[in-house]
Amino acid sequence: MDNETLTITDNRTNLTYTIPIYHGSIRAMDLRQIKTEPDDFGLMTYDPAYMNTAACQSAITYLDGEKGILRYRGYPIEQLAEHCTFLEVAYLLLHGELPTLDELDCWNEEIMAHSLTHENVKKFMEGFHYDAHPMGILISTVAALSTFYSEAHKITDTKIRHRQVVRLIGKMPTLAAYAYRHRLGLPYVAPDPDLGYTKNYMNMLWRRLEPKYVCNPVLSRALEVLFILHADHEQNCSTSTMRAVGSSNADPYVTTAAAIAALSGPLHGGANEEVLRMLDEIGEKDRIPAFIEQVKNGQRKLMGFGHRVYKNYDPRARIIKQVAEEVFDVTGRNPKIDIALELERIALSDDYFISRKLYPNVDFYSGIIYQAMGFTPDQFTVLFGIPRTVGWLAQWQEMLLDPEKKIARPRQIYTGEPRRDFVPATLRGQKELATV
Ligand code: CMC
Repeated sequence: MDNETLTITDNRTNLTYTIPIYHGSIRAMDLRQIKTEPDDFGLMTYDPAYMNTAACQSAITYLDGEKGILRYRGYPIEQLAEHCTFLEVAYLLLHGELPTLDELDCWNEEIMAHSLTHENVKKFMEGFHYDAHPMGILISTVAALSTFYSEAHKITDTKIRHRQVVRLIGKMPTLAAYAYRHRLGLPYVAPDPDLGYTKNYMNMLWRRLEPKYVCNPVLSRALEVLFILHADHEQNCSTSTMRAVGSSNADPYVTTAAAIAALSGPLHGGANEEVLRMLDEIGEKDRIPAFIEQVKNGQRKLMGFGHRVYKNYDPRARIIKQVAEEVFDVTGRNPKIDIALELERIALSDDYFISRKLYPNVDFYSGIIYQAMGFTPDQFTVLFGIPRTVGWLAQWQEMLLDPEKKIARPRQIYTGEPRRDFVPATLRGQKELATV
């Protein structure tokens, strides 16, 4: 359309420029022509934390934060959560289409065949202290996989790249389960590919002396749904890290380790662990108003609330709330759910939260379910990282195949000292002498 343009008048020069608009955006590089004189660098945009900058084009996940919509490859998250297995959704995210029955069989087999790890992995697990945080262990062990698969750096070779993708997805639950059992001093349980992705993970976590660990189908389905909900979320902090690190052509193991590190922060995936600590600290419903006052005074944050993109109820939180009830029918009610529901009720009727459009996000209810299922809070972010590995890899692959791919390298506005001359150490601090 001819009118899909932006006309800019530079008041410094009175010159006018016409710039094309594409999908509601302008290319920042189109601003570079706007100069005050020929050797001027040209206009840049300044956007700390990428509040209003599209850093890539992507066909994987669609998110409308105002309307509370989330879709993977066009499919509403609600439908995928109701009808799919996690590996089916993983296939969809990575390949762009849902698999046929034959494709799904091959895919399940392929992923599960990669659930075994090299014996040396167990040896370096041993090096971690008994109370090492599982996220620290996961970051390190995923990075260490890079030293086992030296072919991984050949990221332009389609077959080799695919092999690393299935390896990583296959091994994540095994590494996570080993990290958990290491802390408890329990022997590692070898993966059992016949169990499928989530049941195998539960078996590796919780099997003790019974000849066959049998997990409750409601709980394994709940974990499957939680994995689907966490599988991708477009350009969040860890995915942007995956793309930034991957843009240097680093191999997928070290790149994924960087993404896991980003996920571990309490403002991102680490929030689910923080929510549980917060609910523990509140302890009783009658202490909620005082806690809310502290939040409103800026003394603390209501963890599990707010989102950079969602300015409406997070659709994942809505599904998780339903799953919670199904889980509690099996495990008994986690008393923290009542504190969480009351916190939500008060927050959603308070002007502080309403005016800032702060709603529960995916992390608000997930920890309560995980705890009811038997996970300890320090594992919660690991439970985010296992499925998100699929999203990271899908986005990494998309970036590598993007004809516009370049190494990520933002600009800055320099605000430091202008040029000045070196002062020998003996003269520093002596202002008068130094200026002589
Ligand atoms: N509790 C209290 N106030 C909040 C909260 C909160 N959880 N979140 C945002 N605000 C306030 C914030 O103080 C600011 O107020 P003011 O305008 O008076 O300065 C306003 O709301 C806008 O917040 P912001 O920090 O500018 O928003 P952001 O987009 O930069 O941050 C966020 C998004 C998720 C980091 C933030 O909402 C937050 O810290 N939430 C708590 C941590 C959390 O639950 N993180 C999980 C995010 S969802 C899962 C994931 O993808 O990782």
